[in-house]
Amino acid sequence: MARIVWGLATSHVPSIGAAHDRGLQEDPDWKPLFDGYKPLQEWMADNTPDVAIVVYNDHANAVGFEIVPTFGIGVGDSFNVTDEGWGVRPVPTPVGKPEFARFLTKEIIDQGFDLTMFNQLEVDHGLTVPMSVYCPEPGEQWPCPIVPILVNVLQYPQPTAARCYELGKAIGKAVEAYPEDLKVAIFGTGGMSHQLAGTRAGFINEEFDRDFLEKIETDPDALAKLTREELIELAGTEGLELIMWLVMRGAIGDSIRRVADTYFVPASNTAAGAAVFERV
Ligand code: DHB
Ligand code: FE
Repeated sequence: MARIVWGLATSHVPSIGAAHDRGLQEDPDWKPLFDGYKPLQEWMADNTPDVAIVVYNDHANAVGFEIVPTFGIGVGDSFNVTDEGWGVRPVPTPVGKPEFARFLTKEIIDQGFDLTMFNQLEVDHGLTVPMSVYCPEPGEQWPCPIVPILVNVLQYPQPTAARCYELGKAIGKAVEAYPEDLKVAIFGTGGMSHQLAGTRAGFINEEFDRDFLEKIETDPDALAKLTREELIELAGTEGLELIMWLVMRGAIGDSIRRVADTYFVPASNTAAGAAVFERV
């Protein structure tokens, strides 16, 4: 039986990837952020999974606005890193796990979440930056194959926090139905508070973020009650990405232990947070 063994919640700010790729880890502006990741990274490096399910959003970089699936899943062999305008990031091409992904797709659809299947998918910073947070020095390839799960956070009406939490629970059940012994990690990505445009551009809400970082472990039901409008009010338009943390939290279940977390403001215009939870 496959089993979720740990979860990572992390922001995916593109400038974190750019700073990483330029070797700015010791730069005074960036050092506190990169140092904050180290305890999480050391623990994850000691607990390499067989596969990671990465819940993320594309930012109209590789998946356009022509069709906007509410939820999707990447079932292909690999996922080329897309060029967002500054060249392709110098990171390994994520490798898929098609047989597992297709099994999950069926199990999740049978539980009432009609996932859109991406037989072809390129990935943007929404996925590659969390991979770099997970494993900053992967070498030729990432430590494990991945199954990307996509969530629409860009175009109204986005799925609710409650629906994302329930999707996570469906993913958890689907994983446990898989007959082969696999250690599975699940990433919930995006956030924390930020707003990139409009009159509130630059909006950050540290009090809300710290509360969210706490409650994602201790009271996910309270977070799942937030409406999308409340989340946008409290966390900014793009802070709504935090609904993807609830997918991770729903999937990993209630028997968890916080390994470590970190919070840093600002990474460009965004509050960057991360936390690792072990299934116990
Ligand atoms: C930025 C982009 C994002 O997708 C995000 O989640 C945070 C920040 C940016 O362009 O700075
Ligand atoms: Fe984003």
